[in-house]
Amino acid sequence: MRRSPAHTTAMTPEEFRQHGHAVVDWIADYRARIESLPVMATAQPGEIRAALPAAPPQSAEPFEHILADLDRVVLPGLSLWQHPRFFGYFPSNHLLASVLGDYVSTGLGVLGLAWQSSPALTEIEELATDWLRQMVALSPAWNGVIQDAASTSTLVALLSARERSSGYSLARGGLQAQPQPLVVYVSAHSHSSVDKAALLAGFGRDNIRVVASDAQHALRADALDHAIRADLAAGRQPCAVVATVGTTTTTALDPVAAIAAVAQAHGLWLHVDAAMAGSAMILPECRWMWEGIEAADSLVINPHKWLGVAFDCSVYFVRDVEHLVRVMSTNPSYLQSAADGQVKNYRDWGLPLGRRFRALKLWFLIREQGVQGLQARLRRDLENARWLEQQVRATPGWKVLAPVPLQTLCLRHEPAGLQGEALDRHTQAWAVRLNRSGLTYLTPALLDGRWMVRVSIGAEATERVHVQQVWQAMQAEVLASDLR
Ligand SMILES: Cc1ncc(COP(=O)(O)O)c(C=O)c1O
Repeated sequence: MRRSPAHTTAMTPEEFRQHGHAVVDWIADYRARIESLPVMATAQPGEIRAALPAAPPQSAEPFEHILADLDRVVLPGLSLWQHPRFFGYFPSNHLLASVLGDYVSTGLGVLGLAWQSSPALTEIEELATDWLRQMVALSPAWNGVIQDAASTSTLVALLSARERSSGYSLARGGLQAQPQPLVVYVSAHSHSSVDKAALLAGFGRDNIRVVASDAQHALRADALDHAIRADLAAGRQPCAVVATVGTTTTTALDPVAAIAAVAQAHGLWLHVDAAMAGSAMILPECRWMWEGIEAADSLVINPHKWLGVAFDCSVYFVRDVEHLVRVMSTNPSYLQSAADGQVKNYRDWGLPLGRRFRALKLWFLIREQGVQGLQARLRRDLENARWLEQQVRATPGWKVLAPVPLQTLCLRHEPAGLQGEALDRHTQAWAVRLNRSGLTYLTPALLDGRWMVRVSIGAEATERVHVQQVWQAMQAEVLASDLR
């Protein structure tokens, strides 16, 4: 539909109805035929940009032309995270109920600057995050708030820790006036966002202590205690420790209870990064993985990963709301409204002032799936991971390199006589060839200094047959490379 050149208004609701139906059809068709598409994009750098005009159109284009470019340029330039044979990085499921929640949020076009600016936006966020709290069996002592990403949640945690340890130094000379440096404790397997948050929160590289891990890549509580004592002896002030439940590379589980005991003994803030594994806590049989969680000060779960909420939706849970608001608020009157429990002004629970109605996509998902529906899907994925683990362990020449508590396998094909850099070249070569074939997307990564391949199971569309197909393809690929 082309508007006359004199037409200056934007799309009308009637035009939106027509184009909106076309867009929904386009997405539904894409999801329906996704299995027939290559999983990993093979675009060369700059290729996509070169296929589009460098300058903006001077006059309005028909909406159909924009949609056509999705097929012509955009889709071939994407790696498909919703593909049933996507095993890269981590599952980032966008269940369609949640996608619709996201559309509604955008369509409503409301902003949460304060409770009063969109009361339902705030209260549905309170409700949906509290539903999530109940689903993962956290006590009512926790309050949730939606952030864009775990990186932000962890930054908020470390800012809160900094201010608790420094007696609200931000109201005086800030960190720059602190008599002793504040120290943050992490592990070598913490996500890079932890390092980034500590650096941006002003701790300084010299005051980020990397605590030793055990053979299963979990942070050692005894080494933490040792490191804290050494810093105290040197006149530094231990401030915070970040434990990870489900590390990015291997889904290793830091021992939360033991770490919490050390943190409490020395008065440290304990932040738990459960960005990936937090979704699994909706399964009672997985909750041993974060035993001791009630002793933490803050934690982050990303429903935009395995659980299925369309990106972006990271839930930051905190126990001491008053402290959070005191750190984040720039207006004392909002401290009062949070303290009296009448309303929440979420602008004082994080960094941005403006807030999207993100809660809708979490709320839609939980309602449309029900807790049982979500649990059933996660259990399916865990069983698929167990199955693949058994296959790999039972096949000569293949190794599973780390425990598989969840849905991620770290594996390597180790032909007899191949070691060191030659083994690295073999691993990277077969993984790259398989990815470039379009059949799947696996992520090679370094573990203990050597390349291996991660198989992260858990896309919504992934069934056992897809795991079988990829396992067969991996074996065929290394066989082919043996023959090369
Ligand atoms: C354990 C862990 N923490 C943090 C992150 C970062 O998440 P986000 O992209 O939401 O900042 C990831 C993402 O891979 C992760 O696996």
